[in-house]
Amino acid sequence: MRGKFVTFEGPEGSGKSTHIRWLSVRLQACGVPILLTREPGGTPTGEAIRRLLQHDSSDAEMSHRTEVLLFCASRAQIVEQVIRPALEQGTWVLCDRFTDSTLAYQGYGRGFDVDELRTMNRFATGGLAPDLTLLLDIPVDESFRRIMARRSEIDRIERAERAFHERLREGYLKLAAMELARFRTIGSARAAEETQADIWRAVAERFGLEK
Ligand code: TMP
Repeated sequence: MRGKFVTFEGPEGSGKSTHIRWLSVRLQACGVPILLTREPGGTPTGEAIRRLLQHDSSDAEMSHRTEVLLFCASRAQIVEQVIRPALEQGTWVLCDRFTDSTLAYQGYGRGFDVDELRTMNRFATGGLAPDLTLLLDIPVDESFRRIMARRSEIDRIERAERAFHERLREGYLKLAAMELARFRTIGSARAAEETQADIWRAVAERFGLEK
């Protein structure tokens, strides 16, 4: 049987990486074969693209259009090389960010046309969509506080202004409202155990696992 494809979305500081690791351990304990990966990255080509995006050391600031194309390029690679083959073998794939990050960051955040980005996402993925997307939602103030607490060097995108982060949060919530069947929005400005209980409930309900 084909594996399930679950993506985690949300702003930096929303706890995605902690919670996705937790879910992977929890599912493995139920005997589910899991592949945990992330975007941009997850393949040698994708990791090279990630470094390029995070540490743009050239004199000129990277063009926002270039940024879109690089995210899509990393996505095309991971879908073809990692995600589709794993799903076909019956492995469940948990991916830290996917197509919705481009819609939220480059679309609602940067102001690119969301429908145009959807077309680019379709090209990059060959039409592959997640079975379930967990959106970790957190107020902007709280995500900023968490980012500052954990990082001395804040990467290029995280230095963007506050208004961008407000648009990003609103954008994610709009995306979730447009696709209620695929998305579950989970508040993550709480104790990790409370967030994890809701994540488990959403996954168990969606895939008919024991709660
Ligand atoms: P993260 O995976 O550690 O959260 O960092 C990845 C950064 O890249 C984060 O700032 C979000 C950003 N990003 C986009 O802007 N668009 C995308 O399509 C993806 C996948 C990530």
